[in-house]
Amino acid sequence: MGDERFAVISGGGTGIGAATAQALAEDGFDVLIVGRREDVLARTAEKIGVQLGRPGAVTAAVADLADPEQVAALMVRIGDRPVDAVVNNAGGVLGGDTATLAGLADVWRVNLETNVLTAVLLTEALRPALRRPGGRVILFSSIAAQRGGGGPYSAAKAALHGWAYDLAAQLGPDGVTVNVVAPGYVADTEFFGDGMTAERHARLVTQTLVGRAGLPNDIAGAVRYLVSPGAGYVTGQVIGVNGGSVLGR
Ligand SMILES: NC(=O)c1ccc[n+]([C@@H]2O[C@H](COP(=O)([O-])OP(=O)(O)OC[C@H]3O[C@@H](n4cnc5c(N)ncnc54)[C@H](OP(=O)(O)O)[C@@H]3O)[C@@H](O)[C@H]2O)c1
Repeated sequence: MGDERFAVISGGGTGIGAATAQALAEDGFDVLIVGRREDVLARTAEKIGVQLGRPGAVTAAVADLADPEQVAALMVRIGDRPVDAVVNNAGGVLGGDTATLAGLADVWRVNLETNVLTAVLLTEALRPALRRPGGRVILFSSIAAQRGGGGPYSAAKAALHGWAYDLAAQLGPDGVTVNVVAPGYVADTEFFGDGMTAERHARLVTQTLVGRAGLPNDIAGAVRYLVSPGAGYVTGQVIGVNGGSVLGR
């Protein structure tokens, strides 16, 4: 391990997180990807290392980031290395039976845990280690926060916006930026599970102004910019990367 910049990417084993891990590794970062599935993480880390000819550029750690004890254990593993970028990409839509109040509470709770608590616990645990000045925090929202359509998922993602504004104010004086990336429809991820059909895909593409689905690299490009030294004057922003399906707001 040398003087490389160090990034921690949650959900980095698949989809947007894996593309972001590759992009930041290409830019010279040492990257730690975190998720719950060891085999998925290990495959992604190895693939990127081989592609870049830099084995160990990406390493993997298993943790359910909604669990405070697992986050604490992750901090022991990371040690006292300064962290240049925390990319809170883990998230997803969780369904369930909402016919009863107990079921409704479960569905809301798991969406809030997966999309908000994972980011809050990882970011707060790493807050003391953030490089000052120069550290970067990225939160992952969605067009669902901006235009609705996702019920508890929309609400959970929108919660991150308000928190990001506070965090940006708290960390700004230390030269640390905090921004939210809000993707539109991104194919080639595990996000939709087996819920994608040709009709749904076509409808989502039609909603864009550029006439195509987003790809993980489209989102990784935005993160790559936000963590770069050149983005030091960008903070407290929600950056839409959605092909124009939601216009700037
Ligand atoms: N794809 C889209 O169209 C789209 C649109 C808007 C926003 N987004 C957002 O973009 C982000 C990335 O999603 P994606 O599209 O790349 O989907 P994805 O392939 O399903 O990636 C989500 C990742 O999060 C990890 N994860 C979920 N819960 C976790 C937990 N409790 N602890 C640790 N890791 C956890 C998953 O890994 P494990 O299951 O192994 O833990 C998975 O690698 C998400 O925040 C998503 O909401 C996606």
